[in-house]
Amino acid sequence: MSDDMNGVLKQPEQSRIERAAELRKILSYHSWRYHVQDEPEISDGDYDRLFKELVAIEEEFPQLVAPDSPTQKVGGAVLKNLPTQEHSLRMYSLDNVFDTDEWAEYVQKTLRQVPEAKPEDMIFWVEPKMDGLAMELIYENGVLVTALTRGDGYKGEIVTANMRTVRNLPLSLRTENPPSLLEVRGEVVMTRADFQALNTVQAGKGAKIFANPRNAAAGSVRQLDSSVAASRPLRFMAYGIGRVEGHPGWASQHEIIEALAGYGLAVAPEAKLCNNLAEVAAFYEDLSKNRQKLAFDIDGVVAKLDRLDLQEALGYTSHAPRWAVAMKFPAEQARTKLLDIQLQVGRTGVLTPRAVLDPVTVGGVVVSYATLHNEDEIRGKNLLVGDTVIVQRAGDVIPEVVSSVPEERDGSEREFHFPASCPECGNHIHREPGEAAWRCVNKLCPAMRKETVIHFVSKAGLDVQGVGEKWIALLMDREMIKTPADLFRLGKLDLLKLDRMGEKLAGNFVAAFAEVRTSASLHRLICALGIRHVGEQTARALSYAYRDLDEISQAGLEDLQKIPDIGPEVASSIVDFFAEPGNRELLEDLRGLGLWPRSEPPVEKSASESPLGGKTFLFTGTLSISRDAAKKLAEDAGAKVVSAVSKSVDYLVAGDAAGSKLTKAESLGVAVISEEEFRKMLAQIPEKPKNQPVPQTGEQGSLFD
Ligand code: IVH
Repeated sequence: MSDDMNGVLKQPEQSRIERAAELRKILSYHSWRYHVQDEPEISDGDYDRLFKELVAIEEEFPQLVAPDSPTQKVGGAVLKNLPTQEHSLRMYSLDNVFDTDEWAEYVQKTLRQVPEAKPEDMIFWVEPKMDGLAMELIYENGVLVTALTRGDGYKGEIVTANMRTVRNLPLSLRTENPPSLLEVRGEVVMTRADFQALNTVQAGKGAKIFANPRNAAAGSVRQLDSSVAASRPLRFMAYGIGRVEGHPGWASQHEIIEALAGYGLAVAPEAKLCNNLAEVAAFYEDLSKNRQKLAFDIDGVVAKLDRLDLQEALGYTSHAPRWAVAMKFPAEQARTKLLDIQLQVGRTGVLTPRAVLDPVTVGGVVVSYATLHNEDEIRGKNLLVGDTVIVQRAGDVIPEVVSSVPEERDGSEREFHFPASCPECGNHIHREPGEAAWRCVNKLCPAMRKETVIHFVSKAGLDVQGVGEKWIALLMDREMIKTPADLFRLGKLDLLKLDRMGEKLAGNFVAAFAEVRTSASLHRLICALGIRHVGEQTARALSYAYRDLDEISQAGLEDLQKIPDIGPEVASSIVDFFAEPGNRELLEDLRGLGLWPRSEPPVEKSASESPLGGKTFLFTGTLSISRDAAKKLAEDAGAKVVSAVSKSVDYLVAGDAAGSKLTKAESLGVAVISEEEFRKMLAQIPEKPKNQPVPQTGEQGSLFD
């Protein structure tokens, strides 16, 4: 604490300081009894009285508020954004197998990789695979200082304020002698019961309904207002550790978990040691059968080799440990009635059928709709409206109809036929020979226009943060906007005309568009336009080859086809897009708004300056930064990045534990360089002007010429 703060704050007597410390200890003990052990020793009323006593002391002497005080669990702080931080050790993902036979094969392979290991060393610590959000908690000298999401494994979002609100999470470890540093890893989850209750409350408020407990947990942790997180019934279940300092360490996985439980962290109670393959198989079968009885959603079992010396000997592949594997459960299925088939008109005019189902619980989630893709699928699966059908849901995947049960037909079922006209605008619909999709031919179809604007702001487009699809749809329905450009002209007062739109949300909305207007890259803007056949890759290629949308719109079919990955079909789709008067109008509108990003000079021009320009790179193994970040560095320097080894690769950048790609590259004579050498190449590039938005007025062109 600084001196001048001491000057203003009233000094507590020693007895008050001691009482605050005592209360913190008592409260965190009872919080642990209640939330982790599920065995409270005192009544809720007694707990509240002790809690209030601590609050009173802390209010009087704010200098006594410690970051691990139980009072800090009730969040209220509004974070400005989610900053990120590197994980000190990478958070890997897991390889999957789909049954115990596949798992037995994995064990055989493992045995071959560590010749010193004997079959009797194959002792596994097995745990449920919890379906939530991976999290790292950093405890320094026993006090929680930082919580990070997994992110891309290298870098996570800092969500400390939100995680502090998680009731079963100790803000300080329950030990006299904590390690100086302990990174605890685990999953943030929500019980199915809590999830259902939350959705009921959300529905009552007209707020977002979550698809499943995992989304609810992730959405609660990754939002800005920690008082919202505080109101959500989140739990943290520990399953491992990251870096540890100031502790002799442990010899096995089960010792780690026992230590974490001893520190007051919740761990999966079902977890256990299995001494042989049969025991692991039995554990898997048992949980697979009884998963519905568990409080949490699980999607499999994780088996980890128990001995840490063996874990170390096995190490990691480019993305997962070799010493652990996830055994996933088969997709969950249920029977229900197919009540109807509806058609949804997408951005490109495609009419996608979806099954309207008699709501049924599949894997703990109520399913009312399932995708049917296209007309052929309805025929292929022999689906009649009114049929009994088998519905399946696997993990995060959209539920699907597996098949009908024709034996259960009673004659009342009817075939589904595509209508002659678009259900949204009444115009003619058409199916090209050889294509599976029916399309609405009306370019002005309101459903298509709505989807176009939604796509423009979505993650696949400009990725405007925090602007929900529902608001866009509502603005379109109200005719407050017609095109994506209109969104940039909306002011707070316009938005406040909408029901349930508050000051704060309206402010965020306007700020999000203002931010994107000046920061969007050419690549993202091309994606946002939703040109048919132009995905992420092609958009990036276009943004390398041309400096702005003017240049792209002037390119002819032949020019376009000189760009890697662009064939005749894609080229003509691009030319058609820019020839369309409505699209030209939109572009002029965006230019007028100042949303007119320019890219770096094209690769050919930078090739002479950058040693990477025009060269093809491939990354493999573990690097100090994420693969995506490395890719971006290379691409920004004018290089092309590919994912497969071939003779056309100029440089393979090999990180730690590089595997088969390295061997193949060496056999093909591809130059192999280290990450450090790659960085040295980057360092040789002269500074170039950054992507810059064009100012709203003036002769923008001259700035760059
Ligand atoms: S161990 C290096 N254990 O599954 C070890 N992960 O598919 C990696 N998960 O990101 C994690 N329950 O979030 C482990 N008992 C468990 C788990 C578990 C759920 C998640 C974890 C990870 C993902 C990988």
